[in-house]
Amino acid sequence: APQWRGVIEEYRDRLPVGAATPVVTLREGGTPLVPAQVLTERTGCDVHLKVEGANPTGSFKDRGMTMAISQAKESGARAVICASTGNTSASAAAYAVRAGLTCAVLVPQGKIALGKMGQALVHGARILQVDGNFDDCLTLARALSEKYPVALVNSVNPARIEGQKTAAFEVVDALGDAPDIHVLPVGNAGNITSYWKGYREYREDGPATRTPRMWGYQAAGAAPIVRGEPVKEPSTLATAIRIGNPASWELAERARDESGGHIEAVTDRQILRAYKLLAAQEGVFVEPASAASVAGLLQAAELGLVDAGQRIVCTVTGNGLKDPDWAVAGAPQPVAVPVDADAAAERLGLA
Ligand code: F0G
Repeated sequence: APQWRGVIEEYRDRLPVGAATPVVTLREGGTPLVPAQVLTERTGCDVHLKVEGANPTGSFKDRGMTMAISQAKESGARAVICASTGNTSASAAAYAVRAGLTCAVLVPQGKIALGKMGQALVHGARILQVDGNFDDCLTLARALSEKYPVALVNSVNPARIEGQKTAAFEVVDALGDAPDIHVLPVGNAGNITSYWKGYREYREDGPATRTPRMWGYQAAGAAPIVRGEPVKEPSTLATAIRIGNPASWELAERARDESGGHIEAVTDRQILRAYKLLAAQEGVFVEPASAASVAGLLQAAELGLVDAGQRIVCTVTGNGLKDPDWAVAGAPQPVAVPVDADAAAERLGLA
């Protein structure tokens, strides 16, 4: 079989690209849709995980970034900028390298995972640590892109939404139709907006006969959409979704309402429990924010909101390797042994 070509070439006729658009790609997308054995058993549903950590820079952001950077390049931009809780900056930095563009990133001081910082650094981005949270970073990035010759590649850029909608296409292509429910974490709310757009387009003139209900989950300490007002000091261990005033707030509400879905909150405890379940029982290592979708599904099941037999897809948005602190914390320590088979066997309980 030919190699997967990346989301622009795979879905060119459904994306705003022309013959002259320079396609900047790392062959993102084409990610695994993995049947979730334990979640299927627990809920009585047919649960699948869309494993977006398998993208080139380890998160779903690459789908949007291939579009945003290709368009920036086409428009003659020399530099791009983004605000980020870590994944957007890692992705922007990598795709900017491919395009030969300068990349500037604004991150909240002390609140991004080390792996993501390492990615931006090694790809040569100019990193500014802002004395503020993500929302402040986005305000600053917008101001800079309005005043100076630098293209904004956050999801307020429509190209990002276009690229990210391809994940919904892939789900339908894999399952033969849309699922009953699609569950995902919500931070700046670009991704839930993107999936909803993708599902709608595939029903209107594509292979899907229906659309799923969209279920979004915010972290309880950073849940502005659930509360109905911005959160000034958002707080959660899931730093990727530590956002108090999402840019795509209204579009997320539209996705929720038009699909007959909901946007609710899960606590950090629930997030960590789902994070450990995914790693220890499904074999899928995600970053904490990604586990918010699965924490939400488990919460909904406990509340009796999940009917047996439904087909459910949970997007797990980023790779666990980006933020391993939570995997190491509280885990049993590795055991030191001499180079001696009997001693090793005894420690392993084999002897
Ligand atoms: N999961 C992960 C791993 C993320 O990095 C993000 C957002 C989300 C979920 C939420 O997606 O913002 O579209 O609702 N990360 C952005 C960033 C904010 O800067 O990397 P969303």
